[in-house]
Amino acid sequence: MTKVSLAENIYWVGAVDWNIRDFHGYHTRRGSTYNAYLILDDKNVLVDTVKHTFCDDLVTHISEIIEPEKLDYIIVNHVEMDHSSSLPKIAKLAKNATIIASPRGKEALIEHYGQEFANVQTVKTGDTLKIGARTLSFLEAPMLHWPDSMFTYIVEDKILMPNDAFGQHLASGERFDDEVDQHILMEEAQTYYANILMLLGPLVAKKIQEVVQMGIPIDMIAPSHGVIWRKDPTKIIKAYASWAAGEAKKKIVIVYDTMWGSTDKMARAIAEGAVSQGVDVKMCKLRASDNTEAMTEILDAKAVVVGSPTLNNGMFPTVGSFLTYATGLKPKDKLWSFFGSFGWGGGAVRAMTETARKAGFEIHEANLQIKYIPDEDDLKRCFELGKQIATKIST
Ligand code: FEO
Repeated sequence: MTKVSLAENIYWVGAVDWNIRDFHGYHTRRGSTYNAYLILDDKNVLVDTVKHTFCDDLVTHISEIIEPEKLDYIIVNHVEMDHSSSLPKIAKLAKNATIIASPRGKEALIEHYGQEFANVQTVKTGDTLKIGARTLSFLEAPMLHWPDSMFTYIVEDKILMPNDAFGQHLASGERFDDEVDQHILMEEAQTYYANILMLLGPLVAKKIQEVVQMGIPIDMIAPSHGVIWRKDPTKIIKAYASWAAGEAKKKIVIVYDTMWGSTDKMARAIAEGAVSQGVDVKMCKLRASDNTEAMTEILDAKAVVVGSPTLNNGMFPTVGSFLTYATGLKPKDKLWSFFGSFGWGGGAVRAMTETARKAGFEIHEANLQIKYIPDEDDLKRCFELGKQIATKIST
């Protein structure tokens, strides 16, 4: 393989997972990568490993540069198994390597792999490791997105290796931001933030502020998934700051499902009403769109309108799944509204509203239920609901 170099003697040695489409429930429509980095100096350092099914790729890529047994350090920025599950095999090859992790990373390693790794050194924020001409500096990043998470910074090269932060699930033959389509890159960065980090917005904002206050220059951000930000690392930092602040557009996302088409008719009438007021509308019919896509659209929307037919006195299962997912990710500062059709007893709108109330969401109280099939007057009410919500988010 052609060696991929970030700077002199710093290499990408990870793996590309072209075919993964389900990343613990997140629909990774463009695959992903597991990035690992090799730094050669007086001491040789591997930063992170890859998912175990790609361990051979990692070993091959390292071996094309140095023999794995010549590794002196293996840094574990994060123990989640897409980054650590090759560690048992790599540690056997690199018998003399010291493993470096945060204190909670060490605990997590034991919880995942038992006492397999004898030689684990812990580091805290501000600790440094001199490896020759270079200095590695460590910054703990608890809950970004696991308790053990930390960033590694190469001082002399000004390269930040923040593991999951600033990543994208994007498989490609290219390794750098300036080599890929910018629209696709930012779309996947937004999808990644919405589906992994959205609930951690306050911590993301705090960590960005902390890094800015530290005044560390960053020429490159090398995350653990997707491409490396070398041309414009500030682009993704600014995007994260905006998402973490909950900045949103005059945009309404209508997420719904339907049994016999009534809720679908209602959804389309609501959309027309909203569009008539000049706001952007996105429709996510579950079973055509999925939870991943819906949450990505919701990230920068001001309102979410959710529709469900009543089934067995409650929500339609796909809508229940969506609301479970959405309440877990805690979208910030959105106006929520609910609608749906029913045959006799109803129950879906009540159940959805109750779920949103428990999650602490702001609810637009003019929710709408229609029996069996919406007639012309019913559809006018739906249109009016769309208009009302659009007006409310436009003021
Ligand atoms: Fe890419 Fe939290 O693992």
